[in-house]
Amino acid sequence: MGLYNYTLFLLFWLCIISQGFLAKGVFGLGCNWGSRSTHPLPPRIVVQLLKDNGFNKVKLFEADPAALMALGRSSIEVMVGIPNDLLASLASNVNHAVSWVSQNVSTFISKNGVNIRYVAVGNEPFLKSYNDMFTQSTFPALQNIQAALIKAGLGRQVKATVPLNADVYQSDSGLPSGGDFRPDIHDQMMAIIKFLNQNGAPIAINIYPFLSLDADPNFPKEFAFFNGSAQPVVDGSKTYTNVMDANFDTLVSALEKNGFGSMPIIIGEIGWPTDGSSNANVKNAQRFNQGLFDRIIKGQGTPKRSTPPDIYVFGLLDEDAKSIQPGNFERHWGIFNYDGSLKYPLNLGSGKSLVAAKGVKYLPQQWCVMSPQASTSDPNFAQSMNNACTYADCTSISPGSSCGNLDPMANASYAFNMYYQTMDQRKDACQFNNLSMITKIDPSPSQGSCKFEIMIDLGKHETNSTPLAAPLMMMNSMVMLVSSFMVIILLSGWI
Ligand SMILES: *[C@@H]1O[C@H](CO)[C@@H](O)[C@H](O)[C@H]1NC(C)=O
Ligand SMILES: *[C@@H]1O[C@H](CO)[C@@H](O)[C@H](O)[C@H]1NC(C)=O
Ligand SMILES: *[C@@H]1O[C@H](CO)[C@@H](O)[C@H](O)[C@H]1NC(C)=O
Ligand SMILES: *[C@@H]1O[C@H](CO)[C@@H](O)[C@H](O)[C@H]1NC(C)=O
Repeated sequence: MGLYNYTLFLLFWLCIISQGFLAKGVFGLGCNWGSRSTHPLPPRIVVQLLKDNGFNKVKLFEADPAALMALGRSSIEVMVGIPNDLLASLASNVNHAVSWVSQNVSTFISKNGVNIRYVAVGNEPFLKSYNDMFTQSTFPALQNIQAALIKAGLGRQVKATVPLNADVYQSDSGLPSGGDFRPDIHDQMMAIIKFLNQNGAPIAINIYPFLSLDADPNFPKEFAFFNGSAQPVVDGSKTYTNVMDANFDTLVSALEKNGFGSMPIIIGEIGWPTDGSSNANVKNAQRFNQGLFDRIIKGQGTPKRSTPPDIYVFGLLDEDAKSIQPGNFERHWGIFNYDGSLKYPLNLGSGKSLVAAKGVKYLPQQWCVMSPQASTSDPNFAQSMNNACTYADCTSISPGSSCGNLDPMANASYAFNMYYQTMDQRKDACQFNNLSMITKIDPSPSQGSCKFEIMIDLGKHETNSTPLAAPLMMMNSMVMLVSSFMVIILLSGWI
C-alpha cells in the first residue's frame, strides 16, 4: 500500500471511528418554537440560542418565513406545522396542498437551505374539546400533503405526520397494556396510521404529565416526575415509575393491538410550565425538565420500547399572547423566558449547562406603576385594571402565581407595567386615568420570584402612533388559535 493509499485508509478509519463516537455522544434534542408573543425574540437570536444549547431539531407551528429564513443553512432539522384552520382547504383540493408545499417547504429547502424533515399536518386535530371540527378533514389533508411532497420530489426527505394529543388513546384496564385508540375516532386513527406506515412516517404524540396533575387533585404528584417516589405501577412484566413511560407505552400497546407494533413514535410536545398555577413553578419545571433531559442524553427508552423516541420539548420560550383558555399557565411553558433569559439552570450533559440568548436589546429601564397618591378605591380603578389586563399578560398576578401575593397597589402596578411594556413604553400607555406614573426604580419585590418585566426593544417605542386596534386584532386571532390543552384521562383516570 503506497503512502497515499495508506493515508486514505487511515482517514477512512478515522471517519468511521469519529462517526461512531458522534453517534454515541450526540443525541437528538428537539424543541417547539412557538411565536404567540407580543415581543417575539428576533429569529436569528433564537437560532443562535438553539445552536448554543445543542438543540438539533425544532418544531414550528406554522411556516413562519422569518423563522425558516433564520434556520437556513443551520443544519437544524425542522418540522413545519400546518394550523388546523388550513386543514379543510388542504383536504378539499390537492392543488391547495401542492401550492402550500411549494411555497412553504420546497422554496425554503432549495433557496434557503432549510433542513425541513417533517410537515406536521394540523395540531392535535382530534382533541375532544374541538368537537370533531377537524375529524373529517385531517386524513384527506394528510394524503394531499403527502402527494404534494412526492410531486415536489421530497417524498423521501420530508415526512408528513399529524401531531396528536394523548387523548386519542386510552386504556380500559387502567394499565398501559390495555391501550387502544378512542372508539369515536378509531377508524380515522387506523386510516392515518396505515397511511403513515406506508410512507415510512412516524406517529407524533403530545404527552403532558403537568396537565394530568393540574387537572386532578388526587393525581399522585411524584408519578409526574422521572425521579419521583411514587408507588410503581406494575403491569405484567413491566413496571412503571412515571406517567410519561406509562402514557407512551399505552400508545405502544394501542399500536401493537392494531398491527403496527413497530411504528416509530415522536413525542411532539412535552414539558412543564413555570407560572400561572400552583403546580406551575420553577422548582417543578426544573425537576421535570432535568429528568427529561437526562433521559434524552442517556438515550433512555420506555419499558416497552428500549429505543428512545425523538422528543420535542415544549417549549423554547414563554409566549405572552397565547390563549389562556386552558389555564393561566399556558403562557409560561418556556424553558427560557420570552426574551431568552434563563429561568433555571439545566444540566445538558458533558459538563454543559443551559445558556441564555445573546445580543438581546431591551427597552429603557423604566416601569409604569400605580401612583402613590392614587387609591384602589378610585372610581376609575377597576376599569383601568381591566384595560391593562385585557391587552397585556396578567397571568403572573393570578392566585398561586409568581406575583400572586402582591398587595392591591403593587398588584395594580404589575398590571399597569405589563400594559406599558407591551405597548413598547409609549407615553400614553402609562395614563390610567391619572392613577399611574413612570418610575426608574425597579418595583419588583426584593424577595421571591415576582418580576416586573422590561420588554425587549423591537424598534417600536419611538413611534407614538401605534393604534390600539393592532393588539386587539392580534388578541382575537390568538383566542381562535386554541392551544394544546388536553387532559390525559387514562389508566384509572390519573395516569
Ligand atoms: C403557505 O402557502 C400558502 C399557499 O398555499 C399560503 O397561502 C400561506 O400563507 C403560506 N404560509 C403559511 C404560513 O402557511
Ligand atoms: C429529582 O431530580 C431533581 C432535579 O435533578 C432534584 O433536584 C431532586 O432532588 C430529585 N428528587 C428526588 C426525589 O430524587
Ligand atoms: C390583582 O389583579 C388581578 C387582575 O385584575 C385580580 O384578579 C387579583 O384578584 C388582584 N389581586 C389583588 C391582591 O388585588
Ligand atoms: C389628570 O390630571 C390632570 C392634571 O391634574 C387633569 O387635568 C386631568 O383632567 C386628569 N385626567 C383624568 C382622566 O382624570
